[in-house]
Amino acid sequence: MSDNRPSPHPLPWLARPAARTWRCAPAPTEVRAFHAALPGYSPTRLAELPAIAAELGVGRVFVKDESRRLGLPAFKVLGASWAIHRVLAEHPESAGDVEAPGHLTLIAATDGNHGRAVAHMARLLGQHAHIFVPRGVHPRAVAAIAAEQAKVTEVAGPYDEAVRHATEAADAPHTVLIQDTGWPGYERIPGWIVEGYATLCAEIDEQLAAHAVISGPDLVAVPVGVGSLAQAVVTHYRSRPSGRAPALLSVEPANAACVLRSLALGEPVSVTTGHTLMAGLNCGTPSGLAWPHLHGGLDAAVAVTDADSIRAADRLAGLGVSSGPCGAATLAGTRAALTGTGREERRTALGLDANSVVVLLSTEGTDANPHATAAH
Ligand SMILES: Cc1ncc(COP(=O)(O)O)c(C=O)c1O
Repeated sequence: MSDNRPSPHPLPWLARPAARTWRCAPAPTEVRAFHAALPGYSPTRLAELPAIAAELGVGRVFVKDESRRLGLPAFKVLGASWAIHRVLAEHPESAGDVEAPGHLTLIAATDGNHGRAVAHMARLLGQHAHIFVPRGVHPRAVAAIAAEQAKVTEVAGPYDEAVRHATEAADAPHTVLIQDTGWPGYERIPGWIVEGYATLCAEIDEQLAAHAVISGPDLVAVPVGVGSLAQAVVTHYRSRPSGRAPALLSVEPANAACVLRSLALGEPVSVTTGHTLMAGLNCGTPSGLAWPHLHGGLDAAVAVTDADSIRAADRLAGLGVSSGPCGAATLAGTRAALTGTGREERRTALGLDANSVVVLLSTEGTDANPHATAAH
């Protein structure tokens, strides 16, 4: 193992042994076929990285590389495309020429990737988009949203405030809020977004089988903002009636660890967020829709610093994987959990040994969030 130095600060870490036996209902199966029929669809690659496996002291490490997904540099379009498809099916009057009456304006708040995905789908499907962007999102990420012909409103406050602005704007006629976080009374559309992420997990199953990993992974690490992606991952791995369940590890920025804090308290709470290069994870409140799944099915939570995530992004770049700060957070978090002071206890909590198979979700490429290069 490369890094056994004592860490200067105690690791923000929480383990929850009961999660492995928690079970929930599966996601609908038709989502995969929907994505497969979209122009330009192909499964993103699952790269095996033996050098990282050696560093982490496990058998095999795979990285799910979402740096190119349906023409965009992050996984988010999986959720936006399925949710918008479901919404438009309920609004047949919106089909046709974009200037004709009846067209919808799709509204979303975003730390970058979700808003770009909504704007992209709106453009492809002949609808309008209005995207609310909080402070701290890189200007090039904002420009990429505008380049999808969306109206962009920059909000001076944090992500939660951008969500409030977007929700208010969606009171107007012919608008629909396409938000990737849910709360009481607003659950159907974020639920479809979560369903959309199931395609990523289904691809991993097939790709691991092709790598002769028949019984599935032992650990899956997920980057967490509001926890909708983690909800999809929990749903995937905790809805199997039998068989071995992997440990599921959430990774958040130390400055925005709302899920870690909520799990520690046993109830969803908001935290005050600061600045982080992991812009897509800079969320202060867990999705209310995701919370029962996060509380029930996550085995462990860890938080990492920007420096950790940038180091991990550099390491992945050296191995040929384009990974932005949010994507590389999973390598940083897994490294923090499996190495360094106290590692034996954490490895035991995750049920890992030298033969274990680890999957890291790298959810964005460097193009999605140019902070990483800007920091150098
Ligand atoms: C690249 C990237 N990874 C992970 C996430 C986290 O997803 P969630 O907010 O569903 O937890 C986001 C959210 O925007 C993201 O943009």
